[in-house]
Amino acid sequence: MIEVIIKSPACDESIEFLDRICEKTLMQAGFEDWRSISFAVHEIIINGIEATKQKCNENSSDKVITLKIYAKEDEVEIHVEDEGDGMDKGRLDKVNEMDFEDVLGDESGRGLLMVKHFVDKIWCEIGAKHSVKIQKRRGRNNE
Ligand SMILES: Nc1ncnc2c1ncn2[C@@H]1O[C@H](COP(=O)(O)OP(=O)(O)O)[C@@H](O)[C@H]1O
Ligand SMILES: [Mg+2]
Repeated sequence: MIEVIIKSPACDESIEFLDRICEKTLMQAGFEDWRSISFAVHEIIINGIEATKQKCNENSSDKVITLKIYAKEDEVEIHVEDEGDGMDKGRLDKVNEMDFEDVLGDESGRGLLMVKHFVDKIWCEIGAKHSVKIQKRRGRNNE
């Protein structure tokens, strides 16, 4: 079991740092599909930073984005917490019903669809902070 929890300022400069941590952790834990999982997490981190910026008129560097990685024997769970207003209720339900054809001409909405494609489960929770969570089982390749 490898557990990593990182808090970083909710600004663009954190994206690459968090991406690298995610990649290294998944590699260290022996997840062969670390690339596709990290890509999914990258999309979720960008969304979290965007949502935080929107909430505080771009002055988001005093806000944090939190990445939590729980790499277990049979699966990895990754949580990305942000300080934005949270995802619309039903947004993820919509994503779960959509296919790539549905978003070809759309300005937004492709990111979460790709995330869905690469992981086994995506859901969000509003606790102390808004959090988007994914789970990917080891060995079953979604690529
Ligand atoms: N962490 C988040 N907080 C608030 N809204 C979010 C979050 N993540 C996603 N969303 C909402 O879901 C929409 C779709 O996200 P996505 O599929 O990544 O497309 P895009 O980022 O191109 O808009 C976003 O436009 C946003 O409205
Ligand atoms: Mg996005």
